[in-house]
Amino acid sequence: MTIQTVGIVGAGTMGNGIAQACAVSGIDVVMVDISDAAVQKGLATVAGSLDRLIKKEKLTEADKAAALARIKTSTRYDDLKSAQLVIEAATENFDLKVKILQQLDALLGQDVIVATNTSSISITQLAAVTQRADRFIGMHFFNPVPMMALVEIIVGLQTSEATHATVKALSERLGKSPITVKNAPGFVVNRILVPMINEAFFVLAEGLASAEDIDAGMKLGCNQPIGPLALADMIGLDVCLAVMEVYLKEFGDSKYRPCPLLKEMVAAGRLGRKTGRGVYSY
Ligand SMILES: NC(=O)c1ccc[n+]([C@@H]2O[C@H](COP(=O)([O-])OP(=O)(O)OC[C@H]3O[C@@H](n4cnc5c(N)ncnc54)[C@H](O)[C@@H]3O)[C@@H](O)[C@H]2O)c1
Repeated sequence: MTIQTVGIVGAGTMGNGIAQACAVSGIDVVMVDISDAAVQKGLATVAGSLDRLIKKEKLTEADKAAALARIKTSTRYDDLKSAQLVIEAATENFDLKVKILQQLDALLGQDVIVATNTSSISITQLAAVTQRADRFIGMHFFNPVPMMALVEIIVGLQTSEATHATVKALSERLGKSPITVKNAPGFVVNRILVPMINEAFFVLAEGLASAEDIDAGMKLGCNQPIGPLALADMIGLDVCLAVMEVYLKEFGDSKYRPCPLLKEMVAAGRLGRKTGRGVYSY
């Protein structure tokens, strides 16, 4: 199936980024959120991001106008009916996503594919609440969407090969490099990334090296653009801890034990950049 129009539920950080990636690639978009203010904010973010690309001479004014003209915004789910694929990018909350997916399921035509951008909820479990489990899939974009090349495509137990092929082709049309992953907690990238960050906290707690030297080691020795502790401050220490707790519970394997220092810092409210202090002070 060729996708001409993509529906997006949620105009936040990820939703508007996905809208921009689609529109710039010549795909029509219907972006829906719960309030006019939310969709207008999403659209303004896209316009600002396109302006930055013009400044960098990666885009022309005409490209910007054409991209914005492809994005229709709405607060009514009914307007998603014109889409061949709807990507759910609303707030990360299981009950909310179930409600949205069931609403979409009742509204959309039988052949429409529904994808979710969840970063932590089971694709298989979400598929099971719909009547289109074979046409349900994970499309895990990375932030900021217009810049990041990866889309992790997550196939649930029920996802059909046709659905996977369509979503892979669309990801490539967006200029992304997709990887295909089976459903499991953390998928692939976060499954490897967050335990690495947790290990950096163990190394720090054991006093083996300073935070600066741990980060310098991983940047200079592994070509990482940012050290794991500085990255933890960006992601939020509370988010890192919550992810480790999910892995520990879901896999039942003590190798996912959150570092006590990470827990201690979260308990102290040192959550990273967002609170002005984490491993480093801002
Ligand atoms: N931010 C990231 O770095 C990142 C990366 C990958 C995946 N994700 C996932 O993407 C999803 C969205 O995250 P975000 O960071 O964009 O969140 P966000 O808070 O920036 O945006 C969420 C948007 O969803 C809207 N929303 C809430 N309920 C809705 C409903 N019933 N219908 C329509 N819209 C509704 C909110 O008004 C808000 O605008 C989450 O599942 C998150 O786990 C986030």
